Amino acid sequence: MSENAPVIYAQDLVKEFGPVRALDNLNLNIAPGEVHGYLGPNGAGKSTTMRVLLGLLRPDSGVIQLFGRDPWKDAVALHRRLAYVPGDVELWPNLTGGEVIDMFLRLRANEGETNFSTKRRDDLIERFDLDPRKKTRTYSKGNRQKVALISALAADVDLLLLDEPTAGLDPLMEVVFQEVIKEAKAQGKSVLLSSHILAQVEALSDRISIIRAGHIVESGTLSELRHMTRTTIEVETEKSAQQLQGLSFVHDFHAEGERTVFEVDGDHIREVMDSLAGLGIRSIVAHPPTLEQLLMRHYGDDLSGRGVSSSTTKKVS
Ligand SMILES: Nc1ncnc2c1ncn2[C@@H]1O[C@H](COP(=O)(O)OP(=O)(O)OP(=O)(O)O)[C@@H](O)[C@H]1O
Ligand SMILES: [Mg+2]
Repeated sequence: MSENAPVIYAQDLVKEFGPVRALDNLNLNIAPGEVHGYLGPNGAGKSTTMRVLLGLLRPDSGVIQLFGRDPWKDAVALHRRLAYVPGDVELWPNLTGGEVIDMFLRLRANEGETNFSTKRRDDLIERFDLDPRKKTRTYSKGNRQKVALISALAADVDLLLLDEPTAGLDPLMEVVFQEVIKEAKAQGKSVLLSSHILAQVEALSDRISIIRAGHIVESGTLSELRHMTRTTIEVETEKSAQQLQGLSFVHDFHAEGERTVFEVDGDHIREVMDSLAGLGIRSIVAHPPTLEQLLMRHYGDDLSGRGVSSSTTKKVS
């Protein structure tokens, strides 16, 4: 297998559960060393993709390869090279967190070796602020998730499959998570990171794919996807911000006294900030778009199916 072969290669992948087409001709490519954000709303097919990659589900048709191999047939060999963290972690209740972490690390080590760094393990335990001496049945959801994250991140693997891995973490731990993923990337590991929140994958991802109804609807670097994003800005200025109204990249403009609310296209934020700076800003709040807003704006028409009413297309009021 060549070193430049994709770490994950999926072509026209289909997986059906009875009448539900969970994966509908899905294509996905992840290069070595890439952190890939995998975004989609509930039920889009993110976890199904992960389970196919893990060799837990067999696709109905299409090609799926990890490191050039078939995860269904070559599970044993492939699982030495990858680690998986689900959003909802189940652990052995009668073991301590530390025992579970060591068990996972031994499982992933190569035969005859204790191929894991206890230094790295202890460092992660400390940074994630986990008490490894407690039985896991006493752990909260977030603590169970930390056990899975520490096990995955301390292992010497090439690929991390992370399915909403921070769902139970508080904002401080989310920061630690972002740091350790950056370190994993610096070590050359590849990461597939799923989420339904754009902001969570934005900071880490080299590329992002958006899945909806089992199909990838957008894929690219963040700057390639910038055309899709709009930021909502709420600002109070000493002078009127009226001059922004009517600009092609400003939408849904509302002004009331000193307060102005509008949306700006992701690739024009700078111009708007430059204009606002001259108006004497008293306060400003900017919100990134939610994934749902993003999907509705771009795929609203086919979301509502046939007989589309014009109200589903975005209009500037
Ligand atoms: N074992 C199963 N049996 C039947 N239907 C399933 C099964 N697993 C998943 N599905 C269906 O497949 C579709 C995709 O589900 P999946 O869990 O992959 O979505 P997801 O993107 O991970 O969503 P979430 O953000 O809620 O975790 C959904 O319609 C779901 O109901
Ligand atoms: Mg899921």
